Amino acid sequence: MSSGAIGPRIPLHDGTSIPQLGLGVYKVPAAQTVDLVDGALRLGYRHVDTAALYRNEREVGEGLRRSGLPRDEVLVTSKVWNDAHGLDETRRAFDDTMRELGLDVLDLYLIHWPAPRQNRFVDAWRAMIALRDEGRVRSIGVSNFEPHHVQRLIDETGVVPVVNQVELHPHLPQRAVRAFDAEHGIVTESWSPLARGRMLEPGSRDASVLAAIAQKHGRTPAQIVLRWHVQQGLVVIPKSTSLARVEENAALFDFALDADDLAAIDELETGERTGKHPDDLD
Ligand SMILES: NC(=O)c1ccc[n+]([C@@H]2O[C@H](COP(=O)([O-])OP(=O)(O)OC[C@H]3O[C@@H](n4cnc5c(N)ncnc54)[C@H](OP(=O)(O)O)[C@@H]3O)[C@@H](O)[C@H]2O)c1
Repeated sequence: MSSGAIGPRIPLHDGTSIPQLGLGVYKVPAAQTVDLVDGALRLGYRHVDTAALYRNEREVGEGLRRSGLPRDEVLVTSKVWNDAHGLDETRRAFDDTMRELGLDVLDLYLIHWPAPRQNRFVDAWRAMIALRDEGRVRSIGVSNFEPHHVQRLIDETGVVPVVNQVELHPHLPQRAVRAFDAEHGIVTESWSPLARGRMLEPGSRDASVLAAIAQKHGRTPAQIVLRWHVQQGLVVIPKSTSLARVEENAALFDFALDADDLAAIDELETGERTGKHPDDLD
Protein backbone atom coordinates (compact mmCIF):
# COMPACT_ATOMS: atom_id res chain seq x y z
CA MET A 1 0.00 0.00 0.00
CA SER A 2 1.24 3.51 -0.76
CA SER A 3 1.94 5.97 2.00
CA GLY A 4 -0.84 8.48 2.39
CA ALA A 5 -3.71 6.04 1.85
CA ILE A 6 -6.61 6.81 4.20
CA GLY A 7 -8.19 3.95 6.15
CA PRO A 8 -7.75 0.18 6.12
CA ARG A 9 -8.39 -2.34 3.36
CA ILE A 10 -10.97 -5.05 3.99
CA PRO A 11 -10.18 -8.56 2.71
CA LEU A 12 -12.46 -10.06 0.07
CA HIS A 13 -13.08 -13.79 -0.17
CA ASP A 14 -11.33 -14.06 -3.57
CA GLY A 15 -7.98 -13.11 -2.03
CA THR A 16 -8.08 -9.41 -2.97
CA SER A 17 -9.05 -6.52 -0.71
CA ILE A 18 -11.01 -3.26 -0.89
CA PRO A 19 -10.24 0.13 0.72
CA GLN A 20 -12.96 0.68 3.31
CA LEU A 21 -13.40 4.30 2.19
CA GLY A 22 -14.27 5.15 -1.39
CA LEU A 23 -15.45 8.18 -3.34
CA GLY A 24 -18.92 7.85 -4.84
CA VAL A 25 -19.44 9.79 -8.06
CA TYR A 26 -23.14 9.35 -8.78
CA LYS A 27 -24.50 12.71 -9.99
CA VAL A 28 -21.04 14.24 -10.13
CA PRO A 29 -21.18 16.10 -13.46
CA ALA A 30 -18.63 14.80 -15.95
CA ALA A 31 -17.09 18.28 -16.17
CA GLN A 32 -16.19 18.16 -12.45
CA THR A 33 -15.23 14.51 -12.21
CA VAL A 34 -11.58 14.65 -13.34
CA ASP A 35 -10.66 17.29 -10.76
CA LEU A 36 -12.70 15.66 -8.02
CA VAL A 37 -11.22 12.17 -8.53
CA ASP A 38 -7.69 13.53 -8.86
CA GLY A 39 -8.23 15.67 -5.75
CA ALA A 40 -9.67 12.79 -3.70
CA LEU A 41 -6.79 10.49 -4.67
CA ARG A 42 -4.30 13.18 -3.67
CA LEU A 43 -6.05 13.40 -0.29
CA GLY A 44 -5.61 9.66 0.26
CA TYR A 45 -8.72 8.02 -1.21
CA ARG A 46 -7.78 4.79 -3.00
CA HIS A 47 -11.19 3.65 -4.21
CA VAL A 48 -13.64 5.25 -6.66
CA ASP A 49 -17.18 4.00 -7.25
CA THR A 50 -18.71 4.68 -10.65
CA ALA A 51 -21.13 2.95 -13.04
CA ALA A 52 -22.09 3.01 -16.70
CA LEU A 53 -25.27 4.81 -15.57
CA TYR A 54 -23.31 7.74 -14.12
CA ARG A 55 -21.86 8.78 -17.50
CA ASN A 56 -18.56 9.84 -15.97
CA GLU A 57 -16.43 6.70 -16.36
CA ARG A 58 -14.19 8.43 -18.90
CA GLU A 59 -13.50 11.25 -16.44
CA VAL A 60 -12.89 8.79 -13.57
CA GLY A 61 -10.18 7.13 -15.68
CA GLU A 62 -8.73 10.52 -16.55
CA GLY A 63 -8.68 11.61 -12.89
CA LEU A 64 -6.92 8.39 -11.96
CA ARG A 65 -4.24 8.94 -14.60
CA ARG A 66 -3.85 12.58 -13.63
CA SER A 67 -3.20 11.66 -9.98
CA GLY A 68 -0.07 9.82 -11.10
CA LEU A 69 -0.73 7.03 -8.60
CA PRO A 70 0.41 3.54 -9.55
CA ARG A 71 -2.54 1.72 -11.09
CA ASP A 72 -2.44 -1.12 -8.57
CA GLU A 73 -2.95 1.25 -5.63
CA VAL A 74 -6.43 2.39 -6.64
CA LEU A 75 -9.53 0.24 -6.74
CA VAL A 76 -12.05 1.24 -9.40
CA THR A 77 -15.58 -0.14 -9.30
CA SER A 78 -18.03 0.03 -12.17
CA LYS A 79 -21.42 -1.55 -12.71
CA VAL A 80 -23.46 -3.04 -15.53
CA TRP A 81 -26.82 -1.33 -16.01
CA ASN A 82 -30.18 -3.10 -16.16
CA ASP A 83 -30.48 -2.82 -19.94
CA ALA A 84 -27.41 -5.01 -20.46
CA HIS A 85 -28.17 -8.22 -18.58
CA GLY A 86 -27.32 -11.32 -20.61
CA LEU A 87 -24.33 -13.37 -21.72
CA ASP A 88 -23.52 -11.18 -24.74
CA GLU A 89 -25.07 -7.93 -23.54
CA THR A 90 -23.05 -7.84 -20.32
CA ARG A 91 -19.84 -8.51 -22.21
CA ARG A 92 -20.57 -5.67 -24.62
CA ALA A 93 -21.39 -3.34 -21.72
CA PHE A 94 -18.11 -4.32 -20.07
CA ASP A 95 -16.19 -3.50 -23.27
CA ASP A 96 -17.88 -0.08 -23.38
CA THR A 97 -17.02 0.55 -19.73
CA MET A 98 -13.38 -0.36 -20.27
CA ARG A 99 -13.14 1.83 -23.34
CA GLU A 100 -14.56 4.73 -21.35
CA LEU A 101 -12.33 4.17 -18.32
CA GLY A 102 -9.28 3.61 -20.51
CA LEU A 103 -8.08 0.78 -18.26
CA ASP A 104 -6.73 -2.67 -19.13
CA VAL A 105 -8.15 -4.44 -16.11
CA LEU A 106 -11.09 -3.45 -13.92
CA ASP A 107 -10.78 -4.03 -10.17
CA LEU A 108 -14.42 -4.65 -9.31
CA TYR A 109 -17.45 -5.11 -11.57
CA LEU A 110 -20.94 -5.23 -10.10
CA ILE A 111 -24.42 -6.06 -11.36
CA HIS A 112 -26.05 -2.71 -10.58
CA TRP A 113 -29.58 -4.06 -9.78
CA PRO A 114 -31.07 -7.54 -10.04
CA ALA A 115 -33.98 -6.26 -12.21
CA PRO A 116 -35.83 -9.45 -11.27
CA ARG A 117 -38.74 -9.12 -13.70
CA GLN A 118 -36.28 -9.30 -16.59
CA ASN A 119 -34.94 -12.44 -14.95
CA ARG A 120 -31.58 -12.21 -16.73
CA PHE A 121 -29.28 -11.44 -13.82
CA VAL A 122 -27.96 -15.01 -13.64
CA ASP A 123 -26.79 -14.71 -17.26
CA ALA A 124 -25.20 -11.34 -16.44
CA TRP A 125 -23.41 -13.13 -13.59
CA ARG A 126 -22.23 -15.92 -15.91
CA ALA A 127 -20.75 -13.28 -18.24
CA MET A 128 -18.99 -11.68 -15.28
CA ILE A 129 -17.58 -15.02 -14.14
CA ALA A 130 -16.13 -15.51 -17.64
CA LEU A 131 -14.62 -11.98 -17.64
CA ARG A 132 -13.02 -12.73 -14.29
CA ASP A 133 -11.67 -16.08 -15.50
CA GLU A 134 -10.18 -14.30 -18.53
CA GLY A 135 -8.39 -11.84 -16.23
CA ARG A 136 -10.26 -8.78 -17.50
CA VAL A 137 -11.74 -8.02 -14.10
CA ARG A 138 -10.19 -8.93 -10.76
CA SER A 139 -13.29 -9.21 -8.61
CA ILE A 140 -17.00 -9.52 -9.25
CA GLY A 141 -19.92 -8.62 -7.05
CA VAL A 142 -23.46 -7.35 -6.93
CA SER A 143 -25.46 -4.32 -5.89
CA ASN A 144 -28.99 -4.05 -4.56
CA PHE A 145 -29.28 -7.83 -4.21
CA GLU A 146 -31.65 -9.19 -1.60
CA PRO A 147 -30.61 -12.51 -0.04
CA HIS A 148 -32.93 -14.48 -2.37
CA HIS A 149 -31.24 -12.94 -5.42
CA VAL A 150 -27.76 -13.82 -4.16
CA GLN A 151 -28.94 -17.32 -3.27
CA ARG A 152 -30.00 -17.84 -6.89
CA LEU A 153 -26.54 -16.85 -8.14
CA ILE A 154 -24.96 -19.30 -5.73
CA ASP A 155 -27.40 -22.11 -6.53
CA GLU A 156 -27.09 -21.70 -10.31
CA THR A 157 -23.36 -20.92 -10.68
CA GLY A 158 -21.65 -21.82 -7.40
CA VAL A 159 -19.85 -18.44 -7.48
CA VAL A 160 -20.38 -16.14 -4.49
CA PRO A 161 -20.14 -12.35 -5.06
CA VAL A 162 -17.30 -10.66 -3.12
CA VAL A 163 -19.39 -7.60 -2.25
CA ASN A 164 -23.02 -6.54 -2.13
CA GLN A 165 -23.45 -2.77 -2.41
CA VAL A 166 -26.84 -1.76 -0.98
CA GLU A 167 -28.61 1.35 0.25
CA LEU A 168 -27.57 1.49 3.90
CA HIS A 169 -27.59 4.27 6.51
CA PRO A 170 -28.99 4.70 10.02
CA HIS A 171 -32.55 5.05 8.65
CA LEU A 172 -32.15 1.71 6.87
CA PRO A 173 -29.57 -0.51 8.60
CA GLN A 174 -30.31 -3.55 6.40
CA ARG A 175 -29.85 -6.12 9.18
CA ALA A 176 -31.14 -9.09 7.17
CA VAL A 177 -28.96 -8.32 4.14
CA ARG A 178 -25.89 -7.85 6.34
CA ALA A 179 -26.50 -11.08 8.22
CA PHE A 180 -26.87 -13.03 4.97
CA ASP A 181 -23.80 -11.36 3.43
CA ALA A 182 -21.71 -12.09 6.53
CA GLU A 183 -22.79 -15.74 6.55
CA HIS A 184 -21.53 -16.08 2.98
CA GLY A 185 -18.30 -14.11 3.38
CA ILE A 186 -19.69 -11.21 1.30
CA VAL A 187 -18.57 -7.70 2.27
CA THR A 188 -21.46 -5.22 2.49
CA GLU A 189 -20.93 -1.77 1.01
CA SER A 190 -23.17 1.14 2.02
CA TRP A 191 -24.48 3.30 -0.80
CA SER A 192 -25.98 6.67 0.09
CA PRO A 193 -24.28 6.34 3.48
CA LEU A 194 -25.58 9.82 4.40
CA ALA A 195 -29.07 9.00 3.08
CA ARG A 196 -28.25 11.41 0.21
CA GLY A 197 -27.59 14.12 2.78
CA ARG A 198 -31.07 13.84 4.30
CA MET A 199 -29.68 12.87 7.70
CA LEU A 200 -27.88 16.21 7.83
CA GLU A 201 -30.82 18.48 7.06
CA PRO A 202 -31.07 21.20 9.73
CA GLY A 203 -34.02 21.08 12.09
CA SER A 204 -34.60 17.32 11.84
CA ARG A 205 -34.50 14.83 14.71
CA ASP A 206 -31.46 13.26 13.04
CA ALA A 207 -29.66 16.58 12.99
CA SER A 208 -30.13 17.21 16.71
CA VAL A 209 -29.02 13.69 17.73
CA LEU A 210 -26.02 13.86 15.41
CA ALA A 211 -25.10 17.40 16.49
CA ALA A 212 -24.87 16.32 20.13
CA ILE A 213 -22.61 13.37 19.30
CA ALA A 214 -20.57 15.52 16.92
CA GLN A 215 -20.01 18.12 19.61
CA LYS A 216 -18.90 15.47 22.10
CA HIS A 217 -16.18 14.24 19.68
CA GLY A 218 -15.28 17.58 18.09
CA ARG A 219 -16.42 16.23 14.70
CA THR A 220 -19.08 17.07 12.11
CA PRO A 221 -22.45 15.28 11.84
CA ALA A 222 -21.39 13.75 8.51
CA GLN A 223 -18.27 12.30 10.12
CA ILE A 224 -20.40 10.81 12.92
CA VAL A 225 -22.68 9.02 10.44
CA LEU A 226 -19.75 7.79 8.34
CA ARG A 227 -17.93 6.59 11.46
CA TRP A 228 -21.08 4.60 12.40
CA HIS A 229 -20.59 2.72 9.10
CA VAL A 230 -16.86 2.09 9.32
CA GLN A 231 -17.00 1.03 12.95
CA GLN A 232 -19.36 -1.78 11.90
CA GLY A 233 -17.01 -3.00 9.17
CA LEU A 234 -19.04 -1.59 6.29
CA VAL A 235 -17.40 -0.14 3.18
CA VAL A 236 -18.55 3.49 2.67
CA ILE A 237 -18.58 5.50 -0.55
CA PRO A 238 -19.84 9.01 0.32
CA LYS A 239 -20.27 11.45 -2.55
CA SER A 240 -19.65 15.16 -2.55
CA THR A 241 -18.88 17.55 -5.36
CA SER A 242 -16.98 19.71 -2.87
CA LEU A 243 -13.36 18.76 -2.29
CA ALA A 244 -13.55 20.27 1.22
CA ARG A 245 -16.37 17.84 2.05
CA VAL A 246 -14.52 14.98 0.37
CA GLU A 247 -11.69 15.72 2.81
CA GLU A 248 -14.10 16.02 5.74
CA ASN A 249 -15.69 12.67 4.84
CA ALA A 250 -12.32 10.92 5.03
CA ALA A 251 -11.40 11.96 8.58
CA LEU A 252 -12.97 8.87 10.12
CA PHE A 253 -10.11 6.75 11.35
CA ASP A 254 -8.76 8.69 14.33
CA PHE A 255 -11.73 8.61 16.68
CA ALA A 256 -14.31 6.10 17.89
CA LEU A 257 -17.97 6.22 18.82
CA ASP A 258 -18.86 4.65 22.15
CA ALA A 259 -21.73 2.25 22.84
CA ASP A 260 -24.10 5.11 23.83
CA ASP A 261 -23.35 6.99 20.60
CA LEU A 262 -23.96 3.89 18.49
CA ALA A 263 -27.21 3.15 20.33
CA ALA A 264 -28.45 6.75 19.84
CA ILE A 265 -27.70 6.55 16.11
CA ASP A 266 -29.39 3.13 15.86
CA GLU A 267 -32.55 4.78 17.19
CA LEU A 268 -32.74 6.91 14.04
CA GLU A 269 -33.90 3.84 12.12
CA THR A 270 -37.14 4.52 10.21
CA GLY A 271 -36.93 1.92 7.45
CA GLU A 272 -37.16 4.76 4.94
CA ARG A 273 -35.36 4.32 1.62
CA THR A 274 -34.07 7.06 -0.66
CA GLY A 275 -34.22 4.68 -3.64
CA LYS A 276 -36.37 1.78 -4.82
CA HIS A 277 -36.68 -1.63 -3.27
CA PRO A 278 -34.62 -4.07 -5.37
CA ASP A 279 -37.67 -6.17 -6.24
CA ASP A 280 -39.39 -3.09 -7.69
CA LEU A 281 -36.86 -1.78 -10.23
CA ASP A 282 -36.39 -3.15 -13.73
N1 LIG B 1 -25.47 0.88 -6.36
C1 LIG B 1 -26.44 1.76 -6.39
O1 LIG B 1 -27.57 1.48 -6.82
C2 LIG B 1 -26.16 3.14 -5.89
C3 LIG B 1 -27.22 4.04 -5.71
C4 LIG B 1 -26.93 5.32 -5.23
C5 LIG B 1 -25.62 5.65 -4.92
N2 LIG B 1 -24.61 4.75 -5.13
C6 LIG B 1 -23.19 5.08 -4.85
O2 LIG B 1 -23.10 5.60 -3.52
C7 LIG B 1 -22.48 6.88 -3.58
C8 LIG B 1 -22.97 7.76 -2.44
O3 LIG B 1 -24.38 7.85 -2.46
P1 LIG B 1 -25.18 9.20 -2.78
O4 LIG B 1 -24.35 10.05 -3.65
O5 LIG B 1 -26.52 8.80 -3.28
O6 LIG B 1 -25.45 9.85 -1.36
P2 LIG B 1 -24.61 10.21 -0.02
O7 LIG B 1 -23.15 10.00 -0.21
O8 LIG B 1 -25.32 9.55 1.10
O9 LIG B 1 -24.93 11.76 0.10
C9 LIG B 1 -24.52 12.70 -0.86
C10 LIG B 1 -25.19 14.02 -0.52
O10 LIG B 1 -24.72 14.48 0.76
C11 LIG B 1 -24.08 15.74 0.62
N3 LIG B 1 -22.85 15.68 1.44
C12 LIG B 1 -21.78 14.86 1.26
N4 LIG B 1 -20.87 15.06 2.24
C13 LIG B 1 -21.37 16.02 3.05
C14 LIG B 1 -20.89 16.65 4.22
N5 LIG B 1 -19.71 16.33 4.74
N6 LIG B 1 -21.67 17.58 4.80
C15 LIG B 1 -22.87 17.93 4.29
N7 LIG B 1 -23.39 17.35 3.16
C16 LIG B 1 -22.63 16.41 2.55
C17 LIG B 1 -23.75 15.88 -0.86
O11 LIG B 1 -23.81 17.23 -1.26
P3 LIG B 1 -22.65 17.94 -2.14
O12 LIG B 1 -22.31 17.04 -3.30
O13 LIG B 1 -23.29 19.21 -2.55
O14 LIG B 1 -21.50 18.13 -1.20
C18 LIG B 1 -24.88 15.09 -1.51
O15 LIG B 1 -26.04 15.90 -1.63
C19 LIG B 1 -22.87 7.38 -4.97
O16 LIG B 1 -22.11 8.49 -5.39
C20 LIG B 1 -22.65 6.14 -5.79
O17 LIG B 1 -21.27 5.94 -6.04
C21 LIG B 1 -24.87 3.50 -5.60
